[in-house]
Order: sequence, then structure tokens, then C-alpha cells
Amino acid sequence: MRGSFISFEGLDGSGKSTQIRLLSIGLREAGFDCIETREPGGTSLGRLLRSAFLETKETVSPIAELLLFSADRAQHVNMLIKPSLEQGKIVLSDRFADSTIAYQCGGRELKRETVDYLIKIATDGLKPDLTILLDLPVEEALRRKNAENRMDSENAEFYERVRQTYLKIAKEEPERFRVVSATGSVEQINQKLLSIVLDFLRSRYEF
Ligand code: TYD
Repeated sequence: MRGSFISFEGLDGSGKSTQIRLLSIGLREAGFDCIETREPGGTSLGRLLRSAFLETKETVSPIAELLLFSADRAQHVNMLIKPSLEQGKIVLSDRFADSTIAYQCGGRELKRETVDYLIKIATDGLKPDLTILLDLPVEEALRRKNAENRMDSENAEFYERVRQTYLKIAKEEPERFRVVSATGSVEQINQKLLSIVLDFLRSRYEF
């Protein structure tokens, strides 16, 4: 039986990593074999690319940035995601290709055509079976996130474009996306995500 690929998207500060951790505990308790991973940095090569990208003091050109995220993704898909799905696992990924559409097309204003082409090459056509978008107003996201990495220096307009692009792509594929407000308490959001994911798995595996 093929596993399930579930991605989590949202602005920095939307609480994805906390929610993925809690969700994976809930899913394991329900008897599912799941793994948690992330982009960028889901593989050993990816972690090197991630620190190169996040730590450089130099301005990174938008195309170089796109190619770095794509290289990270190609390695992630081939070395971790696909083999785990073949073993029947539930793969929970903190970000995937929708991040590139939101940040590189929306935020950096690169052409959708160019970005779609690189996503196709990097993923070899693999798409998440389910994508959860943790939606948060930009003001709240900026208030929450700590000022540690390079991306944090972006301004509010950048993040507004990212958020609007996320909402737009969620509308383009309503059967894959579930948009969940990230403004509730950690516990409320966890309950909501657990119920969405268990419903999804029930319908997929008919139990
Ligand atoms: P990270 O520190 O992993 O942030 P977070 O914990 O919020 O996921 O840094 C990832 C940053 O890279 C984040 O600001 C989003 C950005 N990003 C892109 O711009 N494009 C992409 O394709 C991906 C995967 C991430």
C-alpha cells in the first residue's frame, strides 16, 4: 500500500512545526507509521544547502534562491519522500513546492512559468495528497516570528504577497488544500488538524 504525503504551508510564524510535532504524536497513537520532515533541510545535503542559504550575508539572487530550493527538493523527493511513500508511511512535510510558488512567485515576483517548470523537474510530478495551509494575518506573523534568519528581514508587503498567493493557489486546488486559521490556541488547531487528517486517511484507506 502506498503511503500518504501531507504538506504543511504557511507564513513563517504560523506554527507549522509545533503542529506537525503534535499531529505526528496523535497519528502514531492512532496506529499510523509517520515521519516528519521539512524543506529546506529534509536531507543531509538539504541541510547544507539550507545553512548556506540562510546564513550567507550576501544578497542571494531570486533565481539562485529558486535553484537552491529546487536542489533541496529534488534530493528530498528522491532520497526521502518517495522511498518512505513506497514503504507505506505517512510523510508530514513542513513546506513543499507550494512554498516556492508563494515565496518565489508571490514574494519575489518570479514568473509562474519558470517556477512551475523547476517544480516539475525537482518533484518529478510528485504532489502532496493533502496540503494544510495555516493561514495567518501578516501583522500577527511578523509579531510572532523571531528575527534570526535571513528571510525575517523581508517587509510586510513581501509577506502580504506570499499570503495572498497561498490563498490563491489553495482556491485553484480546493480538493487538495484545507485552509485552517492559525490564530486559535495550539490545542484548538491541533484538534482541528487531527480531525482533518484522520478524515482524509479514513476516506483514503477506507477504515
Ligand atoms: P526556515 O528557517 O526553515 O523557516 P520556517 O521555519 O518558517 O519554515 O526557513 C525557510 C525559509 O525559506 C522560509 O522563510 C520560507 C523560505 N522558502 C522559500 O522561500 N521557498 C521555498 O521553496 C521553501 C521550501 C522555503
